[in-house]
Amino acid sequence: MSISEGLQFDDAMVRTLESLYQTKEAAIRRKMVLDALQLRLGECALDIGTGPGFVALEMAAAVGSTGQVECIDDSETMINVALKRCAGKPWICFQLGDATELPVASNSCDAAAVVQVYEFVPNVPRALEELHLVLRPGGRAAIVSTDWPFIAWNSSDDARMARILDAFSEHCAHITLPRILMPMLKAAGFVSSSQSVLPQFSVSYSPDRFGVHMAGLIRAFVPGRRGVTQEEAAAWLDDLTHTGERGEWFFNVNQHLFLVEKAA
Ligand SMILES: C[S@@+](CC[C@H](N)C(=O)[O-])C[C@H]1O[C@@H](n2cnc3c(N)ncnc32)[C@H](O)[C@@H]1O
Repeated sequence: MSISEGLQFDDAMVRTLESLYQTKEAAIRRKMVLDALQLRLGECALDIGTGPGFVALEMAAAVGSTGQVECIDDSETMINVALKRCAGKPWICFQLGDATELPVASNSCDAAAVVQVYEFVPNVPRALEELHLVLRPGGRAAIVSTDWPFIAWNSSDDARMARILDAFSEHCAHITLPRILMPMLKAAGFVSSSQSVLPQFSVSYSPDRFGVHMAGLIRAFVPGRRGVTQEEAAAWLDDLTHTGERGEWFFNVNQHLFLVEKAA
């Protein structure tokens, strides 16, 4: 792996994402996605960039065994983990594939979820064309993406915080996707669109919070990027932990939920 690449969805990332997605904040995010999609029994749902399979499992419960959930991911590691998580539910199927070339029939899906995926896809307009193609007329999609420059913790060293977050900006192709996604969705032909903000905000510290696991992910990613050393990354994380232990924890990041529809 070259140091210029973004996050790698490998074995180490599986463990990190499983911790992150078991937090109550991530469960609330999934509930908002499922509430937005309003899946019905018997529907065909698509989960693009399924990752460790948490979203797929909840979609499967909503469409029931008379429905189907098609899961696509371009990481074989993630597909294997999701397969295990979703074992015993034969109406969930998994395929290795890219968001820009979905291995799914045109006009075949009633609904799709794309949670924290498009920011990693270099050609987002092409991915949106594919999403539009595979949805049936009247089909809907819920997309979640983070406005990364607004991620914030309380810290005793603002300059170090700025260096760490600057290095973290290399983790994906589009760190400000929520600011430009709506016009892209409209250009791809979607209608009936809405955009809302899901703040991941917390002032109470405990090791199982979203902001704590997010800090761990960043601490692992930044060394060797834009001059950040292992020591500096470790000191940054220690500072956040001490902030939490002193009762001075603050974390916030804004995630945006887009709900769009293909014209009937
Ligand atoms: C941050 S994880 C999100 C997982 C899942 N959507 C969730 O919210 O639980 C991003 C996932 O998107 C996948 N991914 C990234 N780029 C992709 C692409 N071009 N096509 C398909 N999957 C992709 C990664 O392998 C990873 O599993």
